[in-house]
Amino acid sequence: MSHNRPAAVIVLAAGEGTRMKSRTPKVLHEIGGRSLIGHSVAAAESLDPGRLAVVVRHERDRVAEHVSAIAPHALVADQDEIKGTGRAVQCAMSVLDAAAVAETVGAGGAAAAPAFVGAVVVLAGDVPLLDSATLHGLVDAHAAGGHAVTILTTEVADPTGYGRIVRDSDGDQVAAIVEHRDATPEQRAIREINSSVYVFDAEVLRTALSQLGSQNDQGEVYLTDVVAIARAAGRIVRASRVSDPMLLEGVNDRSQLAALGAELNRRVLKAAMVAGVTVVDPATTWVDVTVELERDVTILPGTQLHGRTIVREGATIGPDTTLTDVEVGVDAQVVRTHGSLSTIGARALVGPFAYLRPGTRLGEKGKIGTFVETKNADIGTGSKVPHLSYVGDATIGEYSNIGAASVFVNFDGVAKHRSVIGSHARTGSDNMFVAPVTVGDGAYTGAGTVVRRNVPPGALAVNVAPQRNVDGWVIRYRAGTPAAQAAQAALESRSGDPALSTQAKAERARAAGDAPSTGTSDSEDAR
Ligand code: UD1
Ligand code: MG
Repeated sequence: MSHNRPAAVIVLAAGEGTRMKSRTPKVLHEIGGRSLIGHSVAAAESLDPGRLAVVVRHERDRVAEHVSAIAPHALVADQDEIKGTGRAVQCAMSVLDAAAVAETVGAGGAAAAPAFVGAVVVLAGDVPLLDSATLHGLVDAHAAGGHAVTILTTEVADPTGYGRIVRDSDGDQVAAIVEHRDATPEQRAIREINSSVYVFDAEVLRTALSQLGSQNDQGEVYLTDVVAIARAAGRIVRASRVSDPMLLEGVNDRSQLAALGAELNRRVLKAAMVAGVTVVDPATTWVDVTVELERDVTILPGTQLHGRTIVREGATIGPDTTLTDVEVGVDAQVVRTHGSLSTIGARALVGPFAYLRPGTRLGEKGKIGTFVETKNADIGTGSKVPHLSYVGDATIGEYSNIGAASVFVNFDGVAKHRSVIGSHARTGSDNMFVAPVTVGDGAYTGAGTVVRRNVPPGALAVNVAPQRNVDGWVIRYRAGTPAAQAAQAALESRSGDPALSTQAKAERARAAGDAPSTGTSDSEDAR
């Protein structure tokens, strides 16, 4: 880890990104769960700089708003209509200098130039794979060598479009950076390229920026010209070369966005596997850079983990599961599930085919089973909702069991209400809990109950009407159908049985056409 804190980091994000062909500014497109500029800002912050400035122009307000959201302390520097990376850094330096002067004056010091001294790191807002280790290495090399400028470079197979690193005859220092369009054929043959990531000495940078022109093919103010100016002043300029060009790859279009997204994902999964996570199929597993995976987690194919998701030791996720901002407890299992903003307790079971909406909290050893949807639901330790249910705006105590096909009826058409089920309750299948309603500890409810009134602890609630069987109805009113024929056959075989009950004989008689005129003698389930 570096102990060389830069005085400032400047992130360049004023460019338009036309090749993205998007309503969204390029630097706000996301990979690995972060905006492109979010990756640059995270890398910048890992250096713990004195100040951070982000240069904006295209879609200024959207980019500035996003930057303030992810890095509230960052200074936003507006670039004017003068174009070029050199102009962008001029604008950033005046904002940084003004902030430094304001602080000095505020502290009662003299407003004497220079505003601040030390190292200034410059990086682009569209280089998402640049990691903090590489940046720390760059800053350390700059300090150790006493450089005025240190340029992060790499060799690529096809350098077309990039600025070329033109070295001194002995190869030690960098004499100049020449843009592709301004380069001679000999210079174009150079495969070492400028990544647009640099460290500058603040004073050298200030002086050189004031001397920049725009005598180049594009007529822009080029930051790269600082190199030749510093060398002319006798200062040391060296390149710090990395062997992995992917670290420095920029995003210019959607296909690069996808390619770098996939590469970032491979790197995230590799790091997780090195740290003791089993990833059965890295090709179909997507994990954001912000996700935390503990040791002995197993991720099965088709799984996507996003945002602030945390998976604790020993848990198994997948197959085919998408979790966003979900905390999964130790040794829990989450199978074919879609979930967000939820907490799953240790050793709990979820799925297959569960939908956990925000505010779901499942306790230790709890269960949210097959075809179950939950929202704002607190389901206590050991409690189970195993099958085909909706649990919305509910609190369920400990060790309770919710019968299959239950619905927590939380919406009265205008407002949402909450239901409370106590501990050790046993609710029957196909229940409706019409909120607000409470079922006490240890209470039971019968199958098909519509629970509209509170159920006291230990009570059994039943409110379904007694069952009526209208004997022979199918044979009479659906005569000739397969159902009627099957019924006829069943009744005949039963009437031939010597053990046939008088009730069955009566059924057969009625089925034959001897139906009563009232329903009073219809048989009823006596249970
Ligand atoms: C730049 C470098 C080139 C290097 C390449 C690496 C210059 C002159 N050239 O070229 O040597 O090989 O990056 O990718 O610096 N930006 C602004 N304001 C501007 C122009 C650009 O903030 O007026 C920002 C962009 O948003 C982007 C970065 O600067 O983040 C680089 O700009 P870009 O236009 O991509 O420069 P390149 O032509 O690629
Ligand atoms: Mg570029």
